Amino acid sequence: MIKEKFNLSGKVAIITGASKGIGEAMARGMAEFGATVVVSSRKQAAVDAVAEQFQSEGLSATGIECHVAKAEHREALVEKVMAKYGRIDILINNAGTNPYFGPIHKMPVAAYQKTMDVNINSAIALSNLVYPIMKKQGGGSIIHISSIEGLHPSKMMRAYNLSKTALIVLGKNQAIEWGKDNIRVNTICPGYVRTKLSEALLSNETLVKDFKKNCALGRYSTPDEMAGLAVFLASDASSYMTGSTIVNDGGLLHAPLFG
Ligand SMILES: NC(=O)c1ccc[n+]([C@@H]2O[C@H](COP(=O)([O-])OP(=O)(O)OC[C@H]3O[C@@H](n4cnc5c(N)ncnc54)[C@H](OP(=O)(O)O)[C@@H]3O)[C@@H](O)[C@H]2O)c1
Repeated sequence: MIKEKFNLSGKVAIITGASKGIGEAMARGMAEFGATVVVSSRKQAAVDAVAEQFQSEGLSATGIECHVAKAEHREALVEKVMAKYGRIDILINNAGTNPYFGPIHKMPVAAYQKTMDVNINSAIALSNLVYPIMKKQGGGSIIHISSIEGLHPSKMMRAYNLSKTALIVLGKNQAIEWGKDNIRVNTICPGYVRTKLSEALLSNETLVKDFKKNCALGRYSTPDEMAGLAVFLASDASSYMTGSTIVNDGGLLHAPLFG
């Protein structure tokens, strides 16, 4: 049955940055489809709270702390998941940051470095850690959470744009390199989602005005509206998809150039 292809029972999924926002919604979505989800972020108490909430609803979840920019945290995360569950089928590189808004020529080196370390370097390193495990298991699904900001320039988010474009290209390269091992790699580009990360942008009056004019659906997304794609890309329902970049933006990128 085609419906069965969405079933994630027996699969173990790691989601970084899952204590809130898009990551939490994707973790919930995958758990509802049967996966055991490893909810991860920098704060053990925060991921424990999400995992406990999921468990209280009959979902399978555990919380493991991991600051994705720290090599020892990434290694410990993968080791702990393997010790507890013995497999990793799905990795969602979702943790992201945007510490600097402004012109590129004034961007502090430290802000650039932090953005690249959290948003792209960690995704390369974590993927490399799970690659041999997925290869040995006969396959897996890796999903990068990029942004529409990785597909077009912005006046405010320069290092962020660079890191999000890099994630898209990373996914395409991994897809061609790891396809032979049945490891699929796809990238999601959300538009504007109401979360803590987007708070500053969504309270900027000029941006809100432009957004409402340009977004076909005329509203922000909720985190839940990103979860279905994660379930699809994690599951056998997308078994022929790899190297894809999927935009989920309410039509924002289709804003007419004139008029
Ligand atoms: N919101 C949007 O409009 C939007 C649009 C396009 C793309 N995105 C992307 O979607 C992803 C999730 O964003 P969001 O909007 O859901 O953000 P959010 O609600 O602020 O959540 C961010 C999550 O990442 C965790 N986190 C932050 N830094 C981390 C680090 N160094 N290591 C591990 N975890 C870390 C946070 O938890 P702790 O504080 O506990 O670590 C939290 O769980 C990001 O990659 C973002 O760039 C968001």
